[in-house]
Amino acid sequence: MTILVTGSNGQLGSALQLASAASRHSYIFTDVEVLDITSRDSIDRFIEENGVDVIVNCAAYTAVDLAEEQETTAEEINNKAVANLAFACKEHSATLIHISTDYIFSGKSTIPYTEADEPAPLCAYGRTKLAGEKAVAESGCSAIILRTSWLYSEFGKNFVKTIRNLTNSHSEIKVVADQVGTPTYAGDLAEAITTIIESGQLHKSGTYNYSNLGECSWYDFACEIARQSGNNGCKIESCTSAEYPTKAERPHYSVLNKKKFIETFGIAIPEWRESLAKCIKKF
Ligand SMILES: NC(=O)c1ccc[n+]([C@@H]2O[C@H](COP(=O)([O-])OP(=O)(O)OC[C@H]3O[C@@H](n4cnc5c(N)ncnc54)[C@H](OP(=O)(O)O)[C@@H]3O)[C@@H](O)[C@H]2O)c1
Repeated sequence: MTILVTGSNGQLGSALQLASAASRHSYIFTDVEVLDITSRDSIDRFIEENGVDVIVNCAAYTAVDLAEEQETTAEEINNKAVANLAFACKEHSATLIHISTDYIFSGKSTIPYTEADEPAPLCAYGRTKLAGEKAVAESGCSAIILRTSWLYSEFGKNFVKTIRNLTNSHSEIKVVADQVGTPTYAGDLAEAITTIIESGQLHKSGTYNYSNLGECSWYDFACEIARQSGNNGCKIESCTSAEYPTKAERPHYSVLNKKKFIETFGIAIPEWRESLAKCIKKF
C-alpha cells in the first residue's frame, strides 16, 4: 500500500517517519511546501500520481492561543482542508486516518470522556477541530479518527521541552494545577497508527480516543518532567488557571477513556510516566 502522510514536519509526522521505517508499505511524507492540504486540486493530483491508498493527516493548525485571533486560518486548515482530504479519500476509495483533540470537550466532566460524550469546545482551536471531525463524517469516506491530548515528543516545541529548559535555568516556576488530562508521547501514537495499518485494521472506521494511560495536572506533569530530567534545583509551585490567564480557555478536565481503542484494535497503551521516560532518553 502507499500511505501519504501530511504535515510530516510536525511532532506526530516526525514520529511517524521513525515508526514506519521498517514497514513493508511505501510511506510518502509531505508538509505544506510539497502538499498544501488547503488545495483540493493538489490533493487529487497527488493521490492520482502516487496511487495513494491511505492518508494519515498529521497537518493541523495547532497554535491554541493564536487561534483565538486567527480562527479563519485555523478553520481553513483544521476544517476545510480536512474536508478536502476526506472527500478526496471518498472519491479515490482511500482510507483517512485523522487526528483530533481533547479540546473538543468542555472539561465539565469528572470522569474520563468516552467517544459518545457530547463535545462542547471552549476555544476556537477546539471548534475548528470539531468541525473537521464533522467534515470527515459528512464525506462518508472510510476513516479512523483518533482523538489525542497533550502531545509531546523529541521534535518541535512542546511542554516537555519548555519545562526541561525552564527547570534548568530558573530557581522557581509556577504551573497550573487545575487542568487535568493525560500527556501523550507522539512516538506511542505513531506506533499505534503504524500498527493499525500493518495489522490490516484499516476497515475499522470510527472515532477513537488515544492518549497515554493515567491522568495528571500540568503541575504534576511538570514535576515529573523535572524529576526525570534530574533538574532538582528548581522549585515548582502550583497555580490556578485564573492566576495564569491565556487567550484560549482550556478544559479543566479532559482525560480520555481509551477502552474502545484498546478493545477494537488490541493495541496496548503505555502509562504516561513510562512514555515520558522514553522521550527524555532521546534528548
Ligand atoms: N500538540 C498537541 O498538544 C495536540 C493535542 C491534541 C491533538 N493534537 C492534534 O494532533 C495532530 C498532530 O499535532 P502536532 O503536535 O504533531 O502538530 P504540529 O507539530 O503543529 O504539526 C503540524 C504540521 O502541519 C503543517 N501544516 C500546517 N498547515 C498545513 C497545510 N495547509 N498543509 C500541509 N501541512 C500543513 C505544519 O506546518 P507549519 O509548522 O509550517 O505550519 C506542521 O508541520 C494535529 O491534528 C493536532 O490537532 C495535538
